Amino acid sequence: MSASASTFLIFSCFALIFATASATDHIVGANKGWNPGMNYTLWANNQTFVVGDLISFRYQKTQYNVFEVNQTGYDNCTTEGAIGNWSSGKDFIPLNKSQRYYFICGNGQCYNGMKVSVLVQALPPGPSPSASSNGTSSNSPTPMVLEKRFVGLRVLVITFASIWLTELGLFELLMK
Ligand SMILES: *[C@@H]1O[C@H](CO)[C@@H](O)[C@H](O)[C@H]1NC(C)=O
Ligand SMILES: *[C@@H]1O[C@H](CO)[C@@H](O)[C@H](O)[C@H]1NC(C)=O
Ligand SMILES: *[C@@H]1O[C@H](CO)[C@@H](O)[C@H](O)[C@H]1NC(C)=O
Ligand SMILES: *[C@@H]1O[C@H](CO)[C@@H](O)[C@H](O)[C@H]1NC(C)=O
Ligand SMILES: *[C@@H]1O[C@H](CO)[C@@H](O)[C@H](O)[C@H]1NC(C)=O
Ligand SMILES: *[C@@H]1O[C@H](CO)[C@@H](O)[C@H](O)[C@H]1NC(C)=O
Ligand SMILES: *[C@@H]1O[C@H](CO)[C@@H](O)[C@H](O)[C@H]1NC(C)=O
Repeated sequence: MSASASTFLIFSCFALIFATASATDHIVGANKGWNPGMNYTLWANNQTFVVGDLISFRYQKTQYNVFEVNQTGYDNCTTEGAIGNWSSGKDFIPLNKSQRYYFICGNGQCYNGMKVSVLVQALPPGPSPSASSNGTSSNSPTPMVLEKRFVGLRVLVITFASIWLTELGLFELLMK
C-alpha cells in the first residue's frame, strides 16, 4: 500500500470517529453568553438538544454562577435542593438524559432573566429507519437529527477523499 493510501485510510477513520462521536456544544446565549437582561427561552427555542450534547455557560466568574435545579427552583428562582452547581466561568455540562433540564443563576440575577430550561431529546435509535417504521414515523423529529449528522460525515469524507485523490493526481481524472 502506498504511503498516501494509508494516510487516506487513517484520515478516513478519524473522520468517521469524529463525525459519529461529535456532540454539539450549545453555548448559552451564543456570543452574548450568560448575562442578565436576556431571554434564554428564545435562545433555547432555536436549538435542538440531543442526549450526549453539551450545554456550556460563559460568564464572569466573580459575578455569576450556574445552578441546576428542578422546575420549582426554575419557576421561583430558588437554589434550595439544587441538583448541581458550577462557577468556573466556562462550564461544560453534559446533557446525559432525555428529559427537561433547568439552570438558573444563584445570585439573584435569575429574576433578571438568568434562567434557562432545555428539553433534551433521545438519540435516534439507529441508522436504519425502516427497522422501527410502521409508516407513521415520518412525522417524528428524529430522522432530521440523524440526517444532519450524516450530511456532516459525508462532507468530511468527501473532503478527505478529494485531498487524497488530488495528491495522487487522480481527482481531475475522475472528474472527467
Ligand atoms: C421570552 O420569550 C418567550 C417566547 O417568546 C416568551 O414567552 C416569554 O414571555 C419571554 N420572557 C420574558 C421574561 O420576556
Ligand atoms: C437561530 O439559529 C440560527 C443558526 O444557528 C442563527 O443564525 C439565528 O440568528 C438564531 N436566531 C435567534 C433568534 O437566536
Ligand atoms: C413558588 O412560588 C409560588 C408563587 O410565587 C408559591 O405559591 C409556591 O409556594 C412557591 N413554591 C416553593 C416550593 O417555594
Ligand atoms: C424541587 O426540589 C425542592 C427541594 O428539594 C422540592 O421541595 C420540590 O418539591 C421539588 N419540585 C419538583 C417539581 O420536583
Ligand atoms: C455545590 O455543589 C457541591 C458539590 O458539588 C456542594 O458540596 C455544595 O454545597 C454546592 N453549593 C451550593 C451553594 O449549593
Ligand atoms: C451528567 O453527568 C455528569 C457525570 O455524572 C455530571 O457531572 C453532570 O452534572 C450531569 N449533567 C447534568 C446536566 O446534570
Ligand atoms: C405506529 O407506531 C406508533 C408509535 O410507536 C403507534 O402509536 C401506532 O399505533 C403504530 N401504528 C400502527 C399502524 O402500527
